[in-house]
Amino acid sequence: MESVEGNNMAGTVAFIHDANKLSREEERHENVDENNNDRFAITQCIGETDTHLGALITRYAQTLTNYSLRNLGYPTNQDFNYEELAPLLQFHLNNAGDPFLGSSFSLNSMKFEVSVLDWFAKLWEIEKNEYWGYVTTGGTEGNLHGILVGREQLPDGILYTSEDSHYSIFKIARMYRMQCVKVASLISGEIDCAQLETSLLANKDKPAIINLNIGTTLKGGIDDIDLVIKTLDKCGFTNDQFYIHCDGALCGIMLPFMKQAQRISFKKPIGSVTISGHKFLGCPSPCGVLITRLKYINALSRDVDIISSRDATITGSRCGHAPIFLWYALKKRGLRGLENEVHNCIFKARYLLNQLRGAGIGAMLNEYSNIVVFERPLDDNFTRRWNLASNKNIAHVVVLKHVTIEMLDTFVREFLQKRSVWYKDGQVQSICIANDVGSRNCACSIHKLSRNIS
Ligand SMILES: Cc1ncc(COP(=O)(O)O)c(C=O)c1O
Repeated sequence: MESVEGNNMAGTVAFIHDANKLSREEERHENVDENNNDRFAITQCIGETDTHLGALITRYAQTLTNYSLRNLGYPTNQDFNYEELAPLLQFHLNNAGDPFLGSSFSLNSMKFEVSVLDWFAKLWEIEKNEYWGYVTTGGTEGNLHGILVGREQLPDGILYTSEDSHYSIFKIARMYRMQCVKVASLISGEIDCAQLETSLLANKDKPAIINLNIGTTLKGGIDDIDLVIKTLDKCGFTNDQFYIHCDGALCGIMLPFMKQAQRISFKKPIGSVTISGHKFLGCPSPCGVLITRLKYINALSRDVDIISSRDATITGSRCGHAPIFLWYALKKRGLRGLENEVHNCIFKARYLLNQLRGAGIGAMLNEYSNIVVFERPLDDNFTRRWNLASNKNIAHVVVLKHVTIEMLDTFVREFLQKRSVWYKDGQVQSICIANDVGSRNCACSIHKLSRNIS
């Protein structure tokens, strides 16, 4: 685990100096690059030389390195090394079809895909002969598939999801022309089961398809699966009258490594779980995993002669490199490595929370989350500089493996410097975020942040 105490004063001062120097150089470099988009225009009649193309890519890689050093707001882990897999870029790999049946196109990586799926099936407690799944293009495709399975099971079902759900869920409801009931959330971001109960009782004549967030996008709020199942039971919905899809984009792989957290388990009456592979695990391109119950899949699938396989996925051609990235990411870390990484991210998130609150900035962190929520910076340049994601009054930092204590220290220091300008050293009051994070986490003049630092 990283040592917070390890930051002695001399080291800190030296780091601040380097970081400031670095940031000036980075800014100059980025400004030059931003004003120079023409470099990428494809205008030549004859092809470019490899040397010229190589130079463009090298320069672009430098820009990306600078960006990734300050990627705090988007849940994409930038700390990975897939160099070992470089030889595989010589091949087009395509996993079109059902990974369990294979395909007549032999340049596929379905063996890797099934290993990855078996691993997730074990993680989420479903027997090998009872599950089906595939490697998707990301969390959105996992949601598209999970909710489609639910709708095929319960064609006239109503989709229930909390207001904090990812925008893909509402898009899916529109795409599938499903009636969608948006349920209020608690301050933590998790679904308010009292509100869910009211909505279920108002629509008792229709089955329920429920999307649950295993980590909401903005606050990392985790819907309580057991309480939702109890609520369904209380409202008189039997197991064949509901379908639960779990959207675990970021946290679906983290939660199983936190001992006190609720279990994501197919021993509970849930229908599907999905995660994104590029978030916590850090795959270099978007991908994801979807696991559902095998018994549901026949209703969706069609045999397809041309690939000698079965079509049960959302897309046709599927990236064959993605399952290998996922396989490599899991195999390289092992269970112990994943567990340490989860705990380390939570530790650094708590560190950031304490730094912000200690500096008088309102902030919130859910118990099983690596997402720190705080007041929205007033300057969009600052937000862009740190790749922060914001929504109305609040912004967040998602603490992943690439986020170091040094990065967080630099971020907080710059934030404080900027705030002293925005708020004229206390002469102007900071915005109230009590409605977003709760009054005890708000530092405005009325709520004055409870100074109890965890
Ligand atoms: C809760 C949740 N669901 C779904 C998604 C979409 O995932 P992807 O970007 O992999 O499609 C996200 C992305 O941030 C998310 O936070």
